[in-house]
Amino acid sequence: MVKLRRHIFGMGTYYLYEKVLDRDTEELLGPDGLYCMQDIGDDMHVFSVLSIFPPKLTTVHTTSVALNSKAKGRIDIIPYKVNFDEGEVCSGGSYTVPEFRNRGLYSWMYSFIFHRLYVEGYKLDKASVNKNNKISIHVHEKVGFKRIGEGFYLNILGLRMWRENKVS
Ligand SMILES: CC(C)(COP(=O)(O)OP(=O)(O)OC[C@H]1O[C@@H](n2cnc3c(N)ncnc32)[C@H](O)[C@@H]1OP(=O)(O)O)[C@@H](O)C(=O)NCCC(=O)NCCS
Repeated sequence: MVKLRRHIFGMGTYYLYEKVLDRDTEELLGPDGLYCMQDIGDDMHVFSVLSIFPPKLTTVHTTSVALNSKAKGRIDIIPYKVNFDEGEVCSGGSYTVPEFRNRGLYSWMYSFIFHRLYVEGYKLDKASVNKNNKISIHVHEKVGFKRIGEGFYLNILGLRMWRENKVS
């Protein structure tokens, strides 16, 4: 039901971000007992943080990276432009389970993602963040994303509108 409603109605202001992937991107050390993983796919890479703490192995954070427009549609509703043919990708679908929040996992995950994407030859990672999501905005800016634009998104009964302005 929630999923259906999201497809027929939605609105909000979103910030657009980009991060240049360069050799200075260093993978940070993570907390004990937690490990970053990468599930490599043709359309999408799914990155996770796994906890090996008993009683069981659990995924405690996940962020996806889309490698083409079809995959982008699965992780981000905002139709901003990504030049996939020119080495650009976009990230989204991030989630940390509530009991593991505010331990630096999202920032750590991004350091791992940037490093992996750079090694794979990608040049730029893009993302959109809802203007009200203060935590996500904080993390994106902390890990080096630059705000390149802002836009307004409206979806009424599947009719979508996106108006974008560049940040001067
Ligand atoms: C956004 C989300 C992924 C962050 O995950 P996380 O693993 O807790 O993130 P981190 O621990 O790496 O970083 C959280 C940062 O936000 C800061 N923070 C916490 N509350 C904050 C607030 N109200 N305003 C601003 N910053 C805040 C923390 O201090 C921390 O920053 P620091 O490392 O500089 O101290 C998690 O909150 C989540 O899953 N939210 C629901 C889904 C979501 O919003 N996904 C992102 C969509 S773009």
